[in-house]
Amino acid sequence: MRRPLIAANWKMNTTLADAHVLANGVRNHAEHMDRVDIVLCPPSLWLTELVHGGIAPRQMPHLKLGAQNMHDQESGAFTGEISPLMVKEVAEYVIIGHSERTHLFNEDWDFIASKLKAAFAHNLIPILCVGEDEQNADSKKNVLHILKYLTQGLTEAQLEKLVVAYEPVWAISDGAKGTAATPEYAQDMVSHLRGHLTPKTRILYGGSSNDKNARSFLEQADIDGFLVGGASLKLKAFVTMCQIADDMAATRK
Ligand code: PGA
Repeated sequence: MRRPLIAANWKMNTTLADAHVLANGVRNHAEHMDRVDIVLCPPSLWLTELVHGGIAPRQMPHLKLGAQNMHDQESGAFTGEISPLMVKEVAEYVIIGHSERTHLFNEDWDFIASKLKAAFAHNLIPILCVGEDEQNADSKKNVLHILKYLTQGLTEAQLEKLVVAYEPVWAISDGAKGTAATPEYAQDMVSHLRGHLTPKTRILYGGSSNDKNARSFLEQADIDGFLVGGASLKLKAFVTMCQIADDMAATRK
């Protein structure tokens, strides 16, 4: 049985005060949710602040911090970047290869594959994002092709630890508005990807997920949780999603 995982991708949002309010709110509500892993990925500047605010690495079994991105090198002349060594002091997860990194900041697949290896080398749990830009007859083939390329050379144990976020780019919201894929469409894609992963690998859905549609995605056999953007900035919506996952985990799989 795979533990559900709900990851919050706050993107470039929140003041420091907002970050504390959101994180404390999640922590208070999540205290009793011991069947779901919750990962908060704030802007990297806030990671240390949230650690000092009480979400320290390896302190809370089911509530963790993650970075939204990192470089593949340990240190060096890379202005503006953060390294795996830095991330691992304050977080346990890291989002790798989000489509906003590949599309807006031109990160290429080799760089992403290298970051993925760096995450494993530093004992971080990567949340690797894959997903098609547009829906067409080749979508399944194309997404699997990228996933295979990025994960080549990983060991079975690494594939088991890996978290994959299937995020169709066309379904990702602008923060306020977006149209999710149907749960059936996502399940079809995710089961196709699982064939190349392992039965233990957790695969999330991302793209306009929220408290209203969460249950219908989690009812799908291969969808183990969400990478949540816009809805993760609304405390009530986000903790409702976590609660639904926790409740369903009591009865499913
Ligand atoms: P969204 O973002 O939930 O706002 O669509 C998801 C993501 O980009 O990770």
